[in-house]
Amino acid sequence: MPVNKSNEPKKSTKKSTKKPTILSTDLSIGVPKNLILKGDSIQTMKSLPKGSIDMIFADPPYNMQLKGDLHRPDNSKVDAVDDHWDQFSSFEQYDKFTREWLSAARDLLTDDGSIWVIGSYHNIYRVGAILQELGYWILNDIVWRKSNPMPNFRGRRFTNAHETMIWAAKSEKSKYRFNYDTMKTLNDDIQMRSDWTIPICSGGERLKDENGEKGHTTQKPEALLYRVLMASTQAGDTVLDPFFGTGTTGAVAKKLGRNWIGLEREDNYIKLATERIAKVEQIEESELLTQTLKREEPRVPFGWLIERGLIKAGTVLTDSQNKIEAKVGADGSVIAKTEINQYRGSIHKVGAALQDAPSCNGWTYWHYKDGKNSFPIDRLRQRVRDEMNTQTSIQ
Ligand SMILES: C[S@@+](CC[C@H](N)C(=O)[O-])C[C@H]1O[C@@H](n2cnc3c(N)ncnc32)[C@H](O)[C@@H]1O
Repeated sequence: MPVNKSNEPKKSTKKSTKKPTILSTDLSIGVPKNLILKGDSIQTMKSLPKGSIDMIFADPPYNMQLKGDLHRPDNSKVDAVDDHWDQFSSFEQYDKFTREWLSAARDLLTDDGSIWVIGSYHNIYRVGAILQELGYWILNDIVWRKSNPMPNFRGRRFTNAHETMIWAAKSEKSKYRFNYDTMKTLNDDIQMRSDWTIPICSGGERLKDENGEKGHTTQKPEALLYRVLMASTQAGDTVLDPFFGTGTTGAVAKKLGRNWIGLEREDNYIKLATERIAKVEQIEESELLTQTLKREEPRVPFGWLIERGLIKAGTVLTDSQNKIEAKVGADGSVIAKTEINQYRGSIHKVGAALQDAPSCNGWTYWHYKDGKNSFPIDRLRQRVRDEMNTQTSIQ
């Protein structure tokens, strides 16, 4: 459905927070945050400071190549994506556009930044190939399985029930952010898979124009962006969406305490997005409950547990089966005797030698007794880390 530029979204009765500003492209003052930049996204991206963006979420034109109107069996017209911004004269033209915006986007990312691009069978294979050509490193292709897809009215093909999101790091060397534990917690302690079942945007979430029609043909569900942002960003990061539309990325980013920048050409969408984001309330920082990445946790050598009296020299550690024993030395080494050999070294080296394995995570291998129960020594390491984190936040 083409959007009527004169349509205005309904005014909110709720108290609104600060509205995002719309700027022209004078960006000499550094990276702007929490606003919509009006104009062509390629030109705007080229004018932003390089290396200033932590994550990009892009929902570009899909080049759907729809020909003629589509009708339901009752002869009503289907609200298809036939907007002028989705039209390209050829695949070559689409590829040129894709190469240009993905290249400008890559320059904007920090070295450890990542990008998500959503698409359908119409464009996602072309996008994937161009991402690889430009030096991005593909990390996953996520299948967004729509729990309520539009049927195939003509009955000539399968119901098109999913879209694909490619998640890619800036380069193979990027230390991109993946909040593994957060994803697992969000999924009832089961590792999050690459197929996500989420309904399409409908009901109260779908922005309407004053005639009660859809404000935008391709508004994405907030739940999808929620998972994307929770997976690959942290509070305070800066997230850019070069094809902002109704501002779904900005709305969820604001809710989650991330900074956002939206690029969009069309005034009516900018208006919708501005009104929408102004109404969003940020989740309290204390309620975000972000989990630290393993690599960000402070290093705690085993010896520190002895220094702090959490384990005493002479304590006997065992494996989880209580079959193998080692005594703790005052210097943080462990000593184990078998019928043939005696081993002395770090918790990791001795654990590996006893199992005849190339390596061993001593933190999870060795256990200590607390009353009748036995626990991995990692539990004590976590106690030290918690202590260190408390000290850091007080300072
Ligand atoms: C697929 S829609 C994005 C919808 C958005 N994710 C949402 O949830 O509302 C793509 C948007 O990109 C905008 N657009 C397309 N080409 C553009 C360009 N070259 N520069 C700026 N905006 C562009 C269109 O106006 C459209 O709103």
